[in-house]
Amino acid sequence: MAVQRWDPVRYARNARFVAELGMPVVELLHPQPGERILDLGCGDGALTEKLAAYGCHVVGVDNSPEQVDAARARGLEAYVMDGQQLTFTNEFDAVFSNAVLHWMKRADDVIAGVWRALKPGGRFVAECGGAGNIRTIQTALYTVLGRRGIDAAAVNPWYYPTPEEYHQRLTAGGFRVTYIALIPRPTLLPGDIADWLDTFAESFLSVVPAAERAAVIEEIRALLRPDLCDAHGQWIADYVRLRFAAVKPAA
Ligand code: BEZ
Repeated sequence: MAVQRWDPVRYARNARFVAELGMPVVELLHPQPGERILDLGCGDGALTEKLAAYGCHVVGVDNSPEQVDAARARGLEAYVMDGQQLTFTNEFDAVFSNAVLHWMKRADDVIAGVWRALKPGGRFVAECGGAGNIRTIQTALYTVLGRRGIDAAAVNPWYYPTPEEYHQRLTAGGFRVTYIALIPRPTLLPGDIADWLDTFAESFLSVVPAAERAAVIEEIRALLRPDLCDAHGQWIADYVRLRFAAVKPAA
């Protein structure tokens, strides 16, 4: 059974860059003091804290109890909740989300929940992986698992929409889209690609027999090195962001 766990210590070590690179989305949100904002997929609260620093009242939700505990340890209000089943009604000025929506395949349920959570005139501002995101890494995962007779597509937890597709979904969900773009963002990783795989690709690695996992990671590294590792041994992942802003029309 494919699993992806979020260990706050591992996440802080290997994924701090996710929040650090999220500031352009915060700027697109343009938070105003006093606004009530939902951080959808708040993780350990690193960006939620930044929103709170604008003087906003921020509520974080995440489906990982460990990450919610880490967010609460920062003094933030945070709850365990599936982003595909949001339970809020008409109470937020904005819903913000960074690097999370691509983990939720039921995009229409996410959009419907966000729409319900917003007040009329409220904004939905987010960034996630978009079409072509980490294509090189995903291809290597498929290839190496395929060599062992494992169907990687069956355990792939990611959804990378095009701007056209997500625009259509937002519009069908009642939003007016004010901005949407696909932004290639090659991303310098803080360490080895093996750490990235350990942190983010658990759904794939967990279906490999434990005794073969180290060899699988080594094979993936070997496939990726020519494309993603530079002359100084630094790994650069082929991230592509889908960034958008949309408004729930006022009545
Ligand atoms: C992303 O932020 O695009 C991403 C992160 C981890 C795994 C897959 C995608």
